[in-house]
Amino acid sequence: MANWEELERRCLGCQKCALADTRTHVVFGKGPRDAKIMFVGEGPGENEDLQGEPFVGRGGQLLDEMLGLVGLSREKNFYITNIVKCRPPKNRDPLNTEQDACIGYLWEQMELIRPKIVVCLGRIAAMRLIKPDYRITKEHGQWEEKDGVLYTAIYHPAALLRDPTKKPDTFADLREIRAKIRELCPEAYG
Ligand code: URA
Ligand code: SF4
Repeated sequence: MANWEELERRCLGCQKCALADTRTHVVFGKGPRDAKIMFVGEGPGENEDLQGEPFVGRGGQLLDEMLGLVGLSREKNFYITNIVKCRPPKNRDPLNTEQDACIGYLWEQMELIRPKIVVCLGRIAAMRLIKPDYRITKEHGQWEEKDGVLYTAIYHPAALLRDPTKKPDTFADLREIRAKIRELCPEAYG
């Protein structure tokens, strides 16, 4: 099994797909490496590509604010990363071939972290991690267990910026996530 330093070094130098040609930074992930909860988006946007950190743009700010309301922060108790670690040009959806090339890094991160709960941010991550025909509008907030890990999905923060009427649903999902954390891994809340 990989260790963090070796895994991060390998990922930062990765050339396994064409996204390597257009990236500024590989966006590996952020947060405590013993977190019980992981959040997974689809891929870096412009700000993330420039700064090398996940979810640092307007969407990321909104996400941090909302997660803060249920006691979650990337400094303290969750790890956040993406399905693909390099920015797709013009923020298009990552291609299946790019996801296939990159997903191994996420599996290795999960092996090292061993999260109890994985929250997909948006449809692309949910389709990859929960099921290929995932319907975010219908199925957000539902739980699915796989190999001892509980998965759920919430709307992508960019979708909430585009359509704020989706926010109450997301707050409801986050309260459920808080309840699940209290049940499964209360230590995450110190
Ligand atoms: N959108 C994502 O899916 N991931 C990021 O890191 C930023 C925006
Ligand atoms: Fe490598 Fe993933 Fe970046 Fe493609 S997106 S170059 S597989 S790190």
